[in-house]
Amino acid sequence: MAEPACPQKAPYVLELAPADYWWCACGLSKNQPFCDGSHKGGPHTPVKFTVAKSEKLALCGCKRTHAPPFCDGTHKSL
Ligand code: FES
Ligand code: FES
Repeated sequence: MAEPACPQKAPYVLELAPADYWWCACGLSKNQPFCDGSHKGGPHTPVKFTVAKSEKLALCGCKRTHAPPFCDGTHKSL
């Protein structure tokens, strides 16, 4: 599978309200870290996740995490 693009080598730390979200796995979205449909026709698909209560989360911006959609520190070795 082709490597995803790498929008930034750091997480997007965001305060998110309760809702369903789709994390961009392909790295091509113009609305990082969320999917905007730019993955269509490519090998990567977004990762849906649900926030149950408002909280601050670190979403992977390098698209190399092994625990999507969350940053797991992999960006430090890029
Ligand atoms: Fe990247 Fe949809 S735009 S997964
Ligand atoms: Fe991707 Fe941290 S930003 S693992």
